[in-house]
Amino acid sequence: MDYQHIIEKLEHKISKLPKTGKVANYIPELQKVNPDKFGLHLSCVDGKDYAFGDSNELFSIQSISKVYTLALAKEIVGDDLWKRVNVEPSGNAYNSLTQLENENGIPRNPFINAGSIVVADLLLSVLENPKDDLLNFVRKISKDESIAYDERVAESEKATGSRNVALIYYMKSLGNIKNNPEAVLDFYFYQCSLNMSCKQLATSYKIFADDGKLSGTNHQVFNNQSVKRINSIMQTCGFYDEAGEFSYRVGLPGKSGVGGGIVAVHPRQFSVAVWSPKLNDKGNSSLGMKALEELTNLTGLSIF
Ligand code: DON
Repeated sequence: MDYQHIIEKLEHKISKLPKTGKVANYIPELQKVNPDKFGLHLSCVDGKDYAFGDSNELFSIQSISKVYTLALAKEIVGDDLWKRVNVEPSGNAYNSLTQLENENGIPRNPFINAGSIVVADLLLSVLENPKDDLLNFVRKISKDESIAYDERVAESEKATGSRNVALIYYMKSLGNIKNNPEAVLDFYFYQCSLNMSCKQLATSYKIFADDGKLSGTNHQVFNNQSVKRINSIMQTCGFYDEAGEFSYRVGLPGKSGVGGGIVAVHPRQFSVAVWSPKLNDKGNSSLGMKALEELTNLTGLSIF
């Protein structure tokens, strides 16, 4: 496959497309981003990398972090995790409260806010220094020690995150939060505030494309079964109430964030990260989705 040629074609196509949508403004700090940024980084399992645009620029990864915390929790807590969070698509917005009441405070999946807050609660119960431990894990799988939290984003979300406060206290009332809610939210807001580039994201997600192996090594970090499960949940739940649309258009497991990033993986072929801050009305990057759709069209490589 001539990836270099494909990436050049993709860059040309993207440059002709309108940048539609709106930058997330419900976390005030996120509004400061230049809306016209665009970057893409493709990292192949065979070790080759291809990129264009603002692919080395740092941005707020937001919900893309939910895959890291799920993978860590799955590794540490094992299958007991699934007693506290389900694996079904929600068909609802990422910050929706409605299903929790009828479903005993068990979130539909680990990638909606409620589900990721439960995962944060689980990690708080088992990790000595949750923020440091998560950061070290992300640095290790990204092969980049410079990765850091953006405290301004975390504090900005803390100051305005009433919806997440409602979600956690509601789940606490139903017995599905074990730690102090303020401490859990503090960890959750920090995980969402991780600042990373497309290159760092694609490198870190290669672990899910390469059967759980640390990029460029034979070191098995996750077993096959964990990788299968995490990729499956990305496929069915990675884009909230647009998971079906993403699957239909792109045909890869992936995860988005309201900072405008999307990461997707093709098992045993590649991981790819794209960033364009303008979001559609479901909270997913408009041009990012389009770029990944074009990528799987041009390569003929989707999982289907
Ligand atoms: O909790 C929140 O609302 C944000 N920290 C994360 C939301 C997010 O990225 C969901 N995205 N599509």
